[in-house]
Amino acid sequence: MPKKIAAGNWKMNGLRAALREAEAIADGAPDGIVTLLCPPATLLASMPGGLATGGQACHSQESGAHTGDLSAEMLADAGATYCIVGHSERRADHGERDADVRAQTEAAWRAGLTAILCIGETLEDREAGRTLDVLSAQLAGSLSDGATAENTIVAYEPVWAIGTGKVASPAQVAEVHDALRAKVGPDIPLLYGGSVKAANAAELFALENVDGALVGGASLTAADFLPIAEALAAS
Ligand code: PGA
Repeated sequence: MPKKIAAGNWKMNGLRAALREAEAIADGAPDGIVTLLCPPATLLASMPGGLATGGQACHSQESGAHTGDLSAEMLADAGATYCIVGHSERRADHGERDADVRAQTEAAWRAGLTAILCIGETLEDREAGRTLDVLSAQLAGSLSDGATAENTIVAYEPVWAIGTGKVASPAQVAEVHDALRAKVGPDIPLLYGGSVKAANAAELFALENVDGALVGGASLTAADFLPIAEALAAS
């Protein structure tokens, strides 16, 4: 059975005052699942114990002349044990392509981090009926052969559902996750991401091949995030 993971992606949100929310999330995190926050890197080293933490992106190199970038080794040094790679906002804002994401995945592994590899189709892809083809191509292009249940999590995040309040339907999520499960084998955790909230979490976690969620907006406060983690623990 894959591990169950409730992962929060704070994106570019969170000053030091937000550590109070991280502490409340650590205090309330349910047993039996991994509760994980990916705060801005500026907060990583200050995150409370009792929570796993991750970076939101990493450079493929270990060090060097790359102004403004962070290596996977730096994230690990600041306490991270996970790193998101290939988030659609990175693909859109920073032009990251599958080959870049593959290099970042390998960088995360090199630093001992578990990569949370994000893939997802656009609305245009979905309406054209090419969702599964697009996801297969992203997976093939960005996941190296060395992926194991210890070093890799795959997050399905339909681009049209991120930050829009539009959550994919359970049937849409089930179709994709069943196809991903057939590709990655029985043990790599598969997360859904895109407008997950307490109100829709339980029906998503009831699906056979959904092992947790990658949550943006609803991970910023304990009041929003803990009920999602509890729904996962109860699933
Ligand atoms: P959202 O973001 O929950 O705010 O839609 C999800 C994500 O980008 O991981």
